[in-house]
Amino acid sequence: MNELVIIGAGGFARETVQAVEDAGEFKVLGHLDDNPAVHGTEVDGVPVLGGCDLVHDLPGARVVICVGNPRDYAARARLARRVALPADRYATVIHPTASVSESSEIGPGSVLLAHCVLTAAVRVGAHVAVMPHVVLTHDDVVEDYVTIASGVRLGGGARLERGAYVGSGALVRESTTVGAWSLVGMGSAVLGDVPPGEVWVGSPARRLRAADAPALGELATRTERVTRTELATRTMGGPIT
Ligand SMILES: CC(C)(COP(=O)(O)OP(=O)(O)OC[C@H]1O[C@@H](n2cnc3c(N)ncnc32)[C@H](O)[C@@H]1OP(=O)(O)O)[C@@H](O)C(=O)NCCC(=O)NCCS
Repeated sequence: MNELVIIGAGGFARETVQAVEDAGEFKVLGHLDDNPAVHGTEVDGVPVLGGCDLVHDLPGARVVICVGNPRDYAARARLARRVALPADRYATVIHPTASVSESSEIGPGSVLLAHCVLTAAVRVGAHVAVMPHVVLTHDDVVEDYVTIASGVRLGGGARLERGAYVGSGALVRESTTVGAWSLVGMGSAVLGDVPPGEVWVGSPARRLRAADAPALGELATRTERVTRTELATRTMGGPIT
């Protein structure tokens, strides 16, 4: 069986371990976490082997990066840049109860938790975190490093640009774009395009403030929009930058 290490040892990392065990495709070797206080301990019975750079000493193991939260949702992107692994080192984790249509694609390093639905021709990029009961519908495009919290629903043809964070239970109207590294608050209804680097909340969603500094830092490093063709190329195993 393929071996897998999980970068991170927090909530999302633990949820991913459970999905991996339910799927039965990989044997989890353990977590990697930069907090030395947890090295040598166990999380839900899974060992914390050492810091994140230990990934380079385990070349036979596939990898998923499972860090990030609403206060620092750029953390996955920073870690991916730091460890600089080739795309084929990354696993794609899909819970067995997720419903992924044949016409949809999911990139390396992405994780889909239980009961997600991808209806038709959905493009999900690399290092995307999709929490339970998320519904992505026809022609949605989800770019690299996006986080979609539980219960989010996207109408058809919606686009979540690189690194966007969509909070629990939010709704995104069809053909609407959430800009790169923007955050949509939990329970919000997005009716029109959200610009990059902003926090929007409410129903209908309105601008609350600028995104937090870690996300704004990512916005400064890369601002171009990824086309659907480019995203498809990456999903086929092209370089992750
Ligand atoms: C949007 C969010 C990041 C704002 O956090 P914040 O900057 O700390 O904002 P505050 O809690 O100080 O609230 C600021 C204002 O926005 C309002 N607000 C905050 N979140 C809101 C939301 N989701 N919907 C509507 N209004 C919201 C508050 O009521 C407050 O309004 P007021 O100034 O009129 O009192 C946060 O509330 C949120 O929704 N995070 C996502 C959580 C999530 O989805 N977690 C799931 C996975 S762990």
